[in-house]
Amino acid sequence: MEKFYITTAIDYVNGAPHIGHAYEKILTDVIYRHFTQRCDKTYFLTGTDEHGIKIQKTSKENNMSEKDFCDMNAQKFKDAWKALNIDYTKFIRTTDEAHEKVVQKIFKKLLDKGDIYKHSYTGLYCSGCEAFLSEKDLTEDGLCPDHQKKPEVVSEENYFFRLTKYKDAIIKHIKINPDFIVPSYRANEVLNQLENIEDISVSRSKSNVSWNIPVLGDDEQGIYVWIDALSNYITALGYDPDGSSDLFEDFWPADVQVIGKDILKFHSIYWLGILMALDLPLPKHILAHGWITIDQTKMSKSLGNVISPTSIMEAFNLEISDPLRYYMASAAPCGKDGNYSDEDFKEKVNAHLANSMGNLLNRTLSMLVKYFEGNIKPEFLGKNELAQAAIDTVKAVKHHFDYYEVTEAAQKIIELVDITNKYVTDNAPWTLAKEGNIEKCGEVLTNVLEVMCVITSLIYPFCPNIAQKMAEQLSFDINIKLDDLTCSNIKAGHLIDKENIKPVFLRMDSELADKGSKK
Ligand code: MSP
Repeated sequence: MEKFYITTAIDYVNGAPHIGHAYEKILTDVIYRHFTQRCDKTYFLTGTDEHGIKIQKTSKENNMSEKDFCDMNAQKFKDAWKALNIDYTKFIRTTDEAHEKVVQKIFKKLLDKGDIYKHSYTGLYCSGCEAFLSEKDLTEDGLCPDHQKKPEVVSEENYFFRLTKYKDAIIKHIKINPDFIVPSYRANEVLNQLENIEDISVSRSKSNVSWNIPVLGDDEQGIYVWIDALSNYITALGYDPDGSSDLFEDFWPADVQVIGKDILKFHSIYWLGILMALDLPLPKHILAHGWITIDQTKMSKSLGNVISPTSIMEAFNLEISDPLRYYMASAAPCGKDGNYSDEDFKEKVNAHLANSMGNLLNRTLSMLVKYFEGNIKPEFLGKNELAQAAIDTVKAVKHHFDYYEVTEAAQKIIELVDITNKYVTDNAPWTLAKEGNIEKCGEVLTNVLEVMCVITSLIYPFCPNIAQKMAEQLSFDINIKLDDLTCSNIKAGHLIDKENIKPVFLRMDSELADKGSKK
């Protein structure tokens, strides 16, 4: 694989980031970091979606200008992603001038081509979705099913995008590329939606919505938030209808676009139509992840259970984001819904990262110091009974990531940790030392340390800070590409002194965890 371009949905800035937003960014970051271990050229885009009626209303409620309100909240997203070690290449804001200019040009190009036309329209607009809904989308009580609100009846003359022109091509694309939508079982849902698809409104009257990008040459109309938002994936790279940048040529099409299942329609139907109209290649995969609940309950302001990722870190007194990253990234099988609970978080992270993985490294290095003064003798090398298991795990992890099965990949890594722990118990190096079988004892410890290097590399996308600490104690090059990863990374010679052996991750304090101060 030569290059890898991954994107997330861009978040609305009408509030601060919550754990659902964080789930998506963590998932994407883990996939991104894994592919940096496999490709030389990688790009990770995230950002914020800042136009539309919802932001216009919320900034007014907060007595702030839209711009100031967006600046304030966009910063909260940036701060949260920093705390979570989200290693994005670029953070785009749809209010960036460069983005706005290109969106206007995209609109004009489609208008000139005849794919956008003007039409009078009466429709039901849900500001939560920032979309027109049809009667059959609504609940029995006439509410938007996602936002439980009655949509507003809007009568306007708008510009429309000729989506129906591309309907057959979109259906064909989805059918002949069964892996385009991940997980593939969601493709049927999209194909059903496509059956009844109509042309879509792509502008709003300025008198109704003022906080948007103006249509060039038409003072009455502003560009609809979804055309503006979806275009971020190409404007960020420097797409321009008048001539794109090298970066765009290098990275487009995206390898995978990570979004929540609620916005799959926009990404697998509207977005494809726009790209087809622009004569651009289509993204290779759309990964629609599931929904995160809190204690099995949907997050909502009215229930008061909306939690932020940073408040979880504060409540558990976490200095590094790795435990939360690990927990969230393995919260649900690919595409399925997942759940956050304090108890489960604490238990899983303590069990996997502290008791199994961290402890294994700690006690193996301690025995190396105790029995061999921290030295690896040449005769200990090259007899690794665990090598096959380690190499098989690398293959399995790569395979799972090829299908964006992040949780499944994490399980494979922990299985290798368990196999290695069992190997230590079965071979009891402390007994070997006591019985004078010192050579075998050295071999066993070395074999375990070899596997620990492999584990370090594989766990790195989930836990970059812990992996860095493990690599330091193992004198292992964390930047190794997965294709070069073997089970012979330990060199003969002095490896470590007693004072440099440190626990890579301490169990999360149960008293602090029980304070429940974060909600
Ligand atoms: N602005 C649009 C996306 C435009 S992309 C061109 C939007 N924003 S959002 O803030 O409502 O959601 C951003 C992302 O967070 C979406 O992918 C959405 O599915 C995801 N999530 C929001 N709440 C979530 C959970 N509770 N759980 C998991 N993901 C959730 O939609």
